[in-house]
Amino acid sequence: MDLAQRYTNVGVIGAAGKMGSGIALLLTHEMALRKTSPGAREERFKLTLMDVNDEALDGLKGYLRSQMRRLAEKSTVRLRAHYADRPDLVENGEIIQAYVDDALDLARFTTDLDQLAGCRLVFEAIAENIDLKVKIYKQVKKLAPEAFIFTNTSSIPIRLLDEQAGLGGGLVGFHFYNPPAVQRLLELITSPTTRDDLVADAQQIAKDLKKKVIPASDIAGFIGNGHFIRDGLYGIAEMEKLRGDYGFAGGTYMVNRVCQDWLIRPMGIFQLIDYVGVDVFQCILGVMNQFIEGEELHSDLIDELMKRGVRGGQNPDGSQKDGFFRYEKGQISAVYDLDKGDYQPIAAAWSDRFDKALGGLPDGHFPWRALSRDTSKTAKLEGYFGNLAKAEGLGARLGRDYLKRSKEIGEQLVSSGVAAKAEDVNGVLLNGFFHLYGPINDYA
Ligand SMILES: NC(=O)c1ccc[n+]([C@@H]2O[C@H](COP(=O)([O-])OP(=O)(O)OC[C@H]3O[C@@H](n4cnc5c(N)ncnc54)[C@H](O)[C@@H]3O)[C@@H](O)[C@H]2O)c1
Repeated sequence: MDLAQRYTNVGVIGAAGKMGSGIALLLTHEMALRKTSPGAREERFKLTLMDVNDEALDGLKGYLRSQMRRLAEKSTVRLRAHYADRPDLVENGEIIQAYVDDALDLARFTTDLDQLAGCRLVFEAIAENIDLKVKIYKQVKKLAPEAFIFTNTSSIPIRLLDEQAGLGGGLVGFHFYNPPAVQRLLELITSPTTRDDLVADAQQIAKDLKKKVIPASDIAGFIGNGHFIRDGLYGIAEMEKLRGDYGFAGGTYMVNRVCQDWLIRPMGIFQLIDYVGVDVFQCILGVMNQFIEGEELHSDLIDELMKRGVRGGQNPDGSQKDGFFRYEKGQISAVYDLDKGDYQPIAAAWSDRFDKALGGLPDGHFPWRALSRDTSKTAKLEGYFGNLAKAEGLGARLGRDYLKRSKEIGEQLVSSGVAAKAEDVNGVLLNGFFHLYGPINDYA
């Protein structure tokens, strides 16, 4: 079966979730373009959007309608060509409405997995749980024996899932980044048993969805989480070292600042863990620890935070939930104090002591935001990191050590075969995490 035929009957499982809804949007757009393209009018297209959460599926309908309208508004020239054989559509508004209606018309929203019968491509984005994923794949295999399955797993080895579900190489790791409709990066994970025709289709689909593909080997955590999880564990260990002198809240604040300011990253490591979710971090740790030998990938602190209900992640309206930090209007406003079991507001009177202990930033420093669109950022980064190498003070020392550890992690990903080359590790951090420079660099 060729890919064009596969595109006619597609399913998404977990479609109403954080990742599933973005994947559903990408597929709705791609399939609607195919459906409305001249010459394809006679073909039938069906996109089955399945989730166990009925209420969230209602939300998905509204989300797809508004986002498809936005996409259509940006593509009127292309859509005019698609509807060239429809003389009744004259104004841009009419063309946009026709496209949104056509797009929504191909989508079926359901809580019944049986509706995936006959699907030819299935995208799975349910919880990061081996048993649950395997159970679902076994059912899909019965309902849609010809389907290729694309899993969004962030950490579970593909071959293990494929073998446990008896898919015969019909599963591929298609690791979108959050939010899938916006983030360009896609890690493509194949195992030696993945079917060649599936690998070819996966590469073409990634291209159709306008994603930048970086291949990763089938080793738990892959490249993105392989770096992020170890980077996070290092941050936690550094915080524990500072805790004696500066307390839990002070240590958390300081390590987070070092990551963000001294390393010129978009956010500090604890804010990033909050964004991803303390619960997700714990879950990925658990999976990686199970499959990676010779390394202790575990954190008592993360377990303790989870016990206390400090989970991070987002509310349904997209606002950030409490985690290591509390947020007001998207900005950090307080830091969790494990010793007090409550949040410490971050006011200058409180943070002064920690800022003084860290010391000033080295000369030539620019905030991440200022450099992110700067065409001469490479030269500026070189100048800054040259100064960091010689700078004195606690912040500079912690920054240098962090840089070194991040590089070690990157190199370990290459030497252990997770990534084929340094550029792939750097590419994932640049595109998926919006770092300005890859971890494998000459700055460390
Ligand atoms: N959130 C991220 O930043 C991120 C990034 C990359 C990959 N991932 C991976 O994507 C997958 C989904 O993560 P998420 O953050 O979107 O989770 P989520 O909890 O937001 O969404 C999961 C969805 O699956 C649904 N679901 C649960 N059980 C189901 C079942 N049996 N059948 C159908 N639907 C079911 C839930 O109702 C929910 O809507 C996980 O494997 C995760 O590791 C997440």
